[in-house]
Amino acid sequence: MKQLNQAPANSPKLVKWVNDWAAICKPDALYWCNGSQEEYNQLCDELVKSGLGIRLNPAKRPNCLLFRSDPSDVARVEARTFIAAKTKEDAGPTNNWVDPVELKKTMLGLYDGCMKGRTMYVIPFSMGPVGSHIAKIGIELTDSAYVVINMHVMTRVGNKVLDVLKDGEFVPCVHSVGKPLAPGESDNGIWPCAPLDKKYIAHFPETREIWSFGSGYGGNALLGKKCLALRIASVQARDEGWMAEHMLILKLTNPKGEVKYVTGAFPSACGKTNLAMLIPTLLGWTVETVGDDIAWMKFDKEGNLRAINPEAGFFGVAPGTSMKSNKNAMLSCAKDTIFTNVALTDDGDVWWEGIGTDAPAHLIDWKGKDWKPGQVDADGKPVKAAHPNARFTARAYNCPAIAAEWQDPAGVPISAFLFGGRRPSTLPLVYEAKSWEHGVFIGSTVGSEVTAAALDVTAGTVRRDPFAMLPFCGYNMGDYFKHWLEIGKTGAKQGNLPRIFCVNWFRKNADGKFMWPGFGENSRVLAWVFDRCNGKGEARATAIGNLPTAEAIDLKGLEGEVSEADLAELLTVNTEGWKKELEMIKEHYKKFAGHLPSELSKQLEELEARLG
Ligand code: OXD
Ligand code: MN
Repeated sequence: MKQLNQAPANSPKLVKWVNDWAAICKPDALYWCNGSQEEYNQLCDELVKSGLGIRLNPAKRPNCLLFRSDPSDVARVEARTFIAAKTKEDAGPTNNWVDPVELKKTMLGLYDGCMKGRTMYVIPFSMGPVGSHIAKIGIELTDSAYVVINMHVMTRVGNKVLDVLKDGEFVPCVHSVGKPLAPGESDNGIWPCAPLDKKYIAHFPETREIWSFGSGYGGNALLGKKCLALRIASVQARDEGWMAEHMLILKLTNPKGEVKYVTGAFPSACGKTNLAMLIPTLLGWTVETVGDDIAWMKFDKEGNLRAINPEAGFFGVAPGTSMKSNKNAMLSCAKDTIFTNVALTDDGDVWWEGIGTDAPAHLIDWKGKDWKPGQVDADGKPVKAAHPNARFTARAYNCPAIAAEWQDPAGVPISAFLFGGRRPSTLPLVYEAKSWEHGVFIGSTVGSEVTAAALDVTAGTVRRDPFAMLPFCGYNMGDYFKHWLEIGKTGAKQGNLPRIFCVNWFRKNADGKFMWPGFGENSRVLAWVFDRCNGKGEARATAIGNLPTAEAIDLKGLEGEVSEADLAELLTVNTEGWKKELEMIKEHYKKFAGHLPSELSKQLEELEARLG
C-alpha cells in the first residue's frame, strides 16, 4: 500500500485504527485529507478525468460538477439500514435490527479486500463549528473521492479538526462503495456500488460505530449526516442529556428588530429546506437560515436551550426547487455546487422538473441518455429528465439568507419547536401545545399522508413519523419519547423551555385544493408563533390546544387568496375528524408497548375526554 502523505504525528490511536482498517480493506493507497481548497480542486479534477464527474459550464455554473449515480443507488435505503444494538428491544419496534456480532462477521467478510485498486481516504470531520462544546468529531474512511468532496461541503474537514482531536475520542465511520477493482481495471466513468443485498448501513450504538458498505449515495455514504448527526448522536444525546433532532433552525426578526430562533421537525419531503429559507410576504419581517435539516441542542448555564447546525452545507432535493418555491436555495447552488442525478443541458447547465423554466428541446437525462420534452417510456409513462431524488450539495455560506450567527459555537437560543407533516384533513393550520407533555404527545404523533402511488398503502393513510425521526432514531423510539419528557423536566427546573406548535401547510378543501397558499405566506403563521413566545398573540383554548383567533393571523395583502370561510375552517377543531385521529393514534401507540411513557397514554386519554 502506497502512503500518499504523512499520518498525523499527534494522534497515535487514530493512526492505529486507520492502519488496522487498511489491513482489512487492502487499498492500493492511503491518503489523509487536509481539508484544503487545493485538495478539493484536485479531487474534482481527478473525478472529471475518470469520467465520473462532468464539469458544468463555468459561465453558467462556476465551479460546479455533475454526477450520475447507478440507477440502483439513488436514495437512502431504509430496508438495508440497521441499528445493531445489543438486543432487538434496544433497537425498538421502528428499526431494523441484526445481532451486532453476527453483522460484524458478515460485514468484515465484505470489507476484506473491498478497496483493492482504490485509494482509502481518511476524512477527519467536525459536526458543528470546530471546537464548539456542542460539536462532535468523526473520522470517515472511504474509497470514494465523490464522498470526500461532498464531505468537504457538508462538514468541516481536515487538519483543523485533527488539531482539536489530538488523540481524543472520535466516532469511527467506515465506508466502502463495495466494488474492488482488478489490476488494471477502472470504473470507466460508471458509478461504483454493490447490489442491494450486499448494501449495509450499520450502526453499533453501544460502541458508537458506523459501518457502511455498498452504496455511494447521500445519507448512505456521507456518514456525518443521518448516521452520525442523528442515529449515533441521538444515542449520545440520550446518555448525555441533550437533543439531536431532525430539525431546521431559522432566525425570525419582527418589524421592531426583535429576534427569535425557531426549529422545526417535518418528515422528509414536507418542505423543510423551503421553510428554513423562506422569504416572508409579511412586511417588515425577516427569516434567516441557521440550518435546514439537523439541530443539536443543549441547555446553557442560564437554562436556555441552545442549538447548533452540525452541518456546513445543504444536501437538498433539486426537483421542485425554483426561484418561486425557494429563491435562496437556487442562489445557494448557483456556484461551488455538486449536482447528482439532475439533467444536463446542451450548454453545460443543469435542469430538473419544477425548476421553473420549460424544458429545453434536448437534454441528457440523469441516466446519461438523450431526452426530449414529452418523452414517454414503453408503458407510455412520462420519462423524467432528473431523478425525483436528484440532489444539490451546496455550501451554507453561499446561501444569501444565511444568518450571521450560523457558525456561533455557543449555538442560538431556541424559543419554539414546530412539528408538521402533510395532513390534507383534520389538523388546523397551526395550534400551540398546552404544556411540554402535550407538545411531546404532538411530536410523537407527527405523520404525513401518503398516496397509493408513493407507497404500497391505501391512499389517505397517515404514515406516522414521530418527531420526523422514524428513519433516524438510533434506539427504541418509546425510550426516545421518554428522553423528550426528561428534557422537559430538566428545562422546567433550569429555565426557559421552548413552546411547542403543530403546523399544517397542506390542508385541502372538498375540491382537493390547498386552502393555504404556503411558501412565503407561512410567515403569517411564524409571526403568530413569535408573538405567542412574547406572551402576545391572541389564542383560544380548545380541546386540541391553543388555536389562534381569526384576527390573530395577519392576512394583510392576502385578501381574495384565502376566503374567510377557508380561514375559519383552517382554525377550527373538527371534532369528528379528531375522533378518527384518536383511533389512529391508539393504533400507532400500540407498537411501543411497555416502552410507551405513561405520560403519553395520559395525554391521549385527556385529549379523548376533552373531545367528549
Ligand atoms: C434528507 C431526508 O435527505 O430527510 O434530509 O431524507
Ligand atoms: Mn432530512
